[in-house]
Formats: sequence, C-alpha cells, structure tokens
Amino acid sequence: MTELITPAVARRSLPDAPFLVAARGGAPSRVPVWFMRQAGRSLPEYRALRAGTAMLAACFDPGMVTEITLQPVRRHDVDAAILFSDIVVPLVAAGVDLDIVPGTGPVVATPIRDPRQVAELPALAAEQVDPVAEAVRLLTAELGGTPLIGFAGAPFTLASYLVEGGPSRNHERTKALMYGDPATWHALLDRLADTALTFLRAQVAAGVDAVQLFDSWAGALSLKDYREFVLPHSTKVLGGLADAGVPRIHFGVGTGPLLPAMRKAGADVVGVDWRTPLDQAAAAVPGSALQGNLDPAVLFAGDEVIQREVARIVAEGRAGGGHVFNLGHGVLPDTDPDVITRTVAHVHAHTPTR
Ligand code: CP3
Repeated sequence: MTELITPAVARRSLPDAPFLVAARGGAPSRVPVWFMRQAGRSLPEYRALRAGTAMLAACFDPGMVTEITLQPVRRHDVDAAILFSDIVVPLVAAGVDLDIVPGTGPVVATPIRDPRQVAELPALAAEQVDPVAEAVRLLTAELGGTPLIGFAGAPFTLASYLVEGGPSRNHERTKALMYGDPATWHALLDRLADTALTFLRAQVAAGVDAVQLFDSWAGALSLKDYREFVLPHSTKVLGGLADAGVPRIHFGVGTGPLLPAMRKAGADVVGVDWRTPLDQAAAAVPGSALQGNLDPAVLFAGDEVIQREVARIVAEGRAGGGHVFNLGHGVLPDTDPDVITRTVAHVHAHTPTR
C-alpha cells in the first residue's frame, strides 16, 4: 500500500545521470545512448537464458526480467536500461487471451471488432502486474547509477494488435473500425489508455526513472486522423503522468508529420525514427528534447559508415533541446552485439556541446 500513496519515495535520485539530464533539456557530461530492443535476441546470453521459457512466462518472472534487463547494461555501457517486458503484458495480465508467437509477434485468440467485445474488454488492476513491479524494485537495487526506463504500448498500437488479431502491414481492420464505428473506436482506445496508464503508474510507483510510450504503428495514420482518433487517448496516458516526476518519451515509426502532435500529447522527449533528420525534427518541435535516430540497418554496414552516421546524428541532435542517442527503431535480431558495444563507444567519444 505504501508504494501506491508515496510513489516518489521508491525512486532513486540520479541528478547527474546523462540520460536524465539530456531528457530534461540540461547539459549532460556525455552524449547519452541506449537502444530500443537492446535486451533480447541480439545477445547470446539472452538466448541461453530464455531457452525453454516462453516469452510471456519470462515477462512475468521477476528474476528473469531483472537478469535480461541487466544483460545489455553490463555488456554495452549504455546510459539507460529498458525494462524487459512487452507491450501486450498488461493485456495478458488483465485476462485477454493472447500469446507472443516466436517470429510473428502478438497473436490474439479472438480479435476485438464489435461494441460488445469492447465493453467486455477487461480493465487492468495494478496488482495484476505485481511481478513487473517486483522486477522494477529488484532492478533499481542492482542498477547503481544507471536509470531504468519503463514502457507501455500506446492505445493505437495496442488496438492494432487487438483488432487485427496479430501483426498487420496495412492495419485495414483497425482503420475499418476507426472510420466505420467511431464510437466503438473511441471506447476501445479509452479503455486501452486506462490500461497503459495503470501499467505505467505501477512501474513509476515501483521506481522506474523514465517512461516511454511506444506508438510503433502510429505512422500509418495521416495527421488529421491521428489528431481525431488517437491524440486524445495518448494524451490521457501521458497527461496522466504529468505529475509523476519522470521524463516521458513518446515514440513511433514513420511519424515525421506527426511529431508536433505527439509532443502535444504530453511528451518531454520526442522519439524520432531514421527517416526524419534530427535538425528537421527540432524545427518541428522547437525546444523539445529528442531521442534517436540511427537506422538500425546501419549497424550492418561496417565501422566506417557507423562512425560517420553517429557523427552526423550527434551534430544534428544539437539542434534539439537535449538529445538522447538511440536507433530510429529497435535493434534487429541479427545485429552483432560487438558492433552495438562499439557504437556506444563512438557516441561517447563525441563532446556534448549544447
Ligand atoms: O530491450 C527492449 O527494448 C525491451 C524489450 C521489449 C520487447 N518488446 C521484448 C520482446 C520492448 C520495448 C518491446 C516492445 C514492443 N513489443 C513493441 C514496441 C517496440 C517496437 O519494436 O516498435 C511492439 C510493437 C511489440 C510487439 C512484439 N512483441 C513484436 C513485434 C515482437 C517480435 C516478434 C518476433 O518474434 O519477431 C514481440 C516479441 C518480443 N518482444 C521479443 C522480445 C525480445 C521476441 C521474442 C523472443 O525473444 O522470443
């Protein structure tokens, strides 16, 4: 009970951590860097630990979550850890019948497409993600000065998995519901906003130092549709964390035209994919801290190319009101872990002149 009413007490104070300084728009001692999907299949120690354990079982095992989260921190000297979990974890915790199928992603037993199903979608109670909160407590005890990032899937990206029943290229059923039955759509996204907010609040109460809202597939929408059908719901999530005292990162892929709206939803840090140069992103969201944006495929192109691209991105990032170096999307599974380690060193070799 105590954690629920005094969430800030559990959190460590890390005033000099470069990631947190940059996320708040200050001048960090070095250019901070972490990688989306840094915990996971690119690491042999991850594959060894996960052997014989299903993805979702791993996500509800606090010891395993802790160890997998720490693996890339030990190996790469990154400036932040990201909690090992998945965007569908709060849905599973609430009782939605879905699985994560290796090589495919989340697959939902009964796709949600009508008003009755939306009304029956179970709400998440914070206790249902207690194993995740326990992992956060174990991690903050282990991490020393390295900040821990918690995360959730944004309402649109979660809705896409629930409505399509699995991963989708065109999101056609999702958009059919959105355009064809706006009342049901908004009811669904409102419910998913509550789920994401409850999940993030549980992580903040347990001690995460920052949060990232992943709206991975928001780039499938026009700005007009994003504003009408998504923005109010993502605002409910990020706005609901305004007083949490942790930086809020808001990320999606293919979101160049959406960046100002994504900031308006309540982001302190705007995540940028590799298609939009960071100086252009800075012009779109003036004064905002930025996160990004090395193309994950560049990690396959050799050291010379990587160094050149890192230098370009660090230079372009100076236009932002703070820059956290990252990839423009997640680490690809076949990435050589030693290349990731060297890329961190290349980023750290640059001086953070702001
Ligand atoms: O290091 C980290 O970034 C933390 C771990 C993390 C996972 N999923 C672990 C995972 C994070 C942040 C996520 C978020 C997530 N999950 C997103 C948003 C980020 C993004 O990439 O845009 C999305 C869209 C999902 C849904 C999902 N879960 C997909 C598309 C997949 C991959 C399917 C596959 O096998 O190719 C998953 C499964 C998943 N989540 C894996 C991992 C490490 C792979 C499962 C495994 O290792 O067995």
